[in-house]
Amino acid sequence: MKVDGKPYRTIWLGADGTTVQVIDQTLLPHQFVVRDLETMADAERAIRTMIVRGAPLIGAAAAYGMALAMAADASDEALARAYTVLLESRPTAVNLRWALDDLRALLAPLPANRRREAAYRRAAEICDEDVEICRRIGENGLGLIHRLKPRGDRINALTHCNAGWLATVDWGTALAPIYQAHNAGIPIHVWVDETRPRNQGASLTAWELGKHGVPHTVIADNAGGHLMQHGQVDFVITGTDRTTRQGDVCNKIGTYLKALAAHDNGVPFYVGLPYPTIDWTIEDGVREIPIEERSAREVSHIAGRTAAGEMVTVQLLPDGSPAANPAFDVTPARLVTALVTERGVCPASEAGLLSLYPEQSRAA
Ligand code: MRU
Repeated sequence: MKVDGKPYRTIWLGADGTTVQVIDQTLLPHQFVVRDLETMADAERAIRTMIVRGAPLIGAAAAYGMALAMAADASDEALARAYTVLLESRPTAVNLRWALDDLRALLAPLPANRRREAAYRRAAEICDEDVEICRRIGENGLGLIHRLKPRGDRINALTHCNAGWLATVDWGTALAPIYQAHNAGIPIHVWVDETRPRNQGASLTAWELGKHGVPHTVIADNAGGHLMQHGQVDFVITGTDRTTRQGDVCNKIGTYLKALAAHDNGVPFYVGLPYPTIDWTIEDGVREIPIEERSAREVSHIAGRTAAGEMVTVQLLPDGSPAANPAFDVTPARLVTALVTERGVCPASEAGLLSLYPEQSRAA
């Protein structure tokens, strides 16, 4: 996507062929800063502190983290250590494990002197593949948008968190169909949940929709149910950090409440996802997906820009009030109207997913 006319991906290789460059998402929307990742520890820190975030981008950053590790030391011990350290950076998005498993399986059988080049090549392939996957999710989601019968003169989507190009390498998952609809001249408007506590909706989704010229309105997280009751939402679409074999969808905290409200109001609830986000090893998302607990400070404090242009963080809570910060929740498959993947659209069920990915059948 373009930022002020210049095309960007969210992660790319620097001119020296070793350093990895990323957009620092902790500073958006107020500052656009590109960060250099020079070591595996830099990549781990970027994922943990959410300089890069969003399931597909976390996977891509982990792949480049393995490459950075191999550039410094391509021994078996360094490979094993990079795998363990990067895997622990964030627990919920399964794309992280998928990318690390992929890199380890590729690198382990190779002699040490061939690992660096192979790791960089594979990390670049993962990025290119993600772009193509997301483009296809966009096409498949556009088919759904074409079939909607909007109640007004524009189509109103609602999205939670950020599953746009910033969360992937390009295009996004949930936002890819919206970009394609907008590019095709369909009048589409997006209700953007602010997504407390880290405000990925208010800070990131609003920023990237604005840069692309997509009409949007930021709403407080609690407004979505009211808008649905009053016919102002034609469909909800979100991304996911991990979707189980039976179609349970884990995504940013608050997604479940939107799915409940959508179900109660007969509003379609779609989820965009690439294949590395499907965890075929588990079925029951509520019981089996590890939910990241982040710092209470993300709830007790909030960052923003003053009128003078200074970035500041202020306290919201009374002194001494404890806060809790579960970062994700699970929407059971029964509340999901359909999953939108690079291979097509399917019901959120094991049979639905296997109709698109027959190679994952237990008999296959
Ligand atoms: O904590 P984050 O910002 O990494 O959470 C991101 C989300 O919840 C996204 O919806 C999800 O990763 C899908 S991104 C295409």
